[in-house]
Amino acid sequence: MAAAVEARSLDLGYRNEDAGTVSVLSGVDLTVDAGEFLSILGPSGCGKSTLLRVIADLLDPLGGEISILGKSPGEARRAREVGFVFQDSTLLPWRTVTANIELPYVIGGRYAVSGAPDRTAGLLGMLGLDGLGGRYPHQLSGGQRQRVAIARALLTEPKLLLMDEPFGALDEITRDRLNDELLRLWRRTGTTILFVTHSIMEAVYLGQRIMVLSANPGRIRAIRDLRGAKEADNRCRREDPAIVAAMTDMRNVLETA
Ligand SMILES: Nc1ncnc2c1ncn2[C@@H]1O[C@H](COP(=O)(O)OP(=O)(O)OP(=O)(O)O)[C@@H](O)[C@H]1O
Ligand SMILES: [Mg+2]
Repeated sequence: MAAAVEARSLDLGYRNEDAGTVSVLSGVDLTVDAGEFLSILGPSGCGKSTLLRVIADLLDPLGGEISILGKSPGEARRAREVGFVFQDSTLLPWRTVTANIELPYVIGGRYAVSGAPDRTAGLLGMLGLDGLGGRYPHQLSGGQRQRVAIARALLTEPKLLLMDEPFGALDEITRDRLNDELLRLWRRTGTTILFVTHSIMEAVYLGQRIMVLSANPGRIRAIRDLRGAKEADNRCRREDPAIVAAMTDMRNVLETA
């Protein structure tokens, strides 16, 4: 089976008309296996969102090679194999929950082809949004809005789900609950997940592996494998000594990132 993400000597940054080229991350070598849950940590501005943008084909790399599920990022995007939950969840305020979730169908022009209503109902149930399909975003809590954004990203049954600080704005109790829901969803669907967060706890709790990026120069600082510290299905208890040790380790790595 092709890796979900395979990057070799990848250089990332921005080409600006006036200011020239801004280099963000360089020499990125990364293999993410199909079905893996990878957490990504790193200081603000180090290039976490930039990396997800390149994987999602929203930005071209400056150099190096990248393949997504054995294809180019563009091919994977056109095959609707990549879902994205953005850093600032972007629901359209004038569309209901259901209409927001079904947006990818509308944009992709596939509305009539696929069983949209059935799939949407299934997603509402899976994400604990039953009965809320007719509401507008301003009638939802922050946590509910994030779940709508996740449902929308799952609509096309992506093999690769990119999540950019999806729970950053939520209180800790809600965040913990959504973390558990996300893990259940991951176990059920087998989707590969790349999850960006600033929370060390969240990164350690969710990830089978954790990648830490550093800034100036932007590079992969470390990749830690936590599979030995967790149960086979990636279950763990936040207070397990191995998990507490992993958090201390991550804090030390981040302090020098
Ligand atoms: N369009 C752009 N043109 C030039 N530079 C940009 C552009 N977008 C982002 N950058 C710069 O690229 C760098 C990486 O940005 P990025 O958004 O990937 O950081 P991040 O790790 O996601 O940070 P945060 O944790 O704050 O979300 C930053 O220095 C940012 O200023
Ligand atoms: Mg970001």
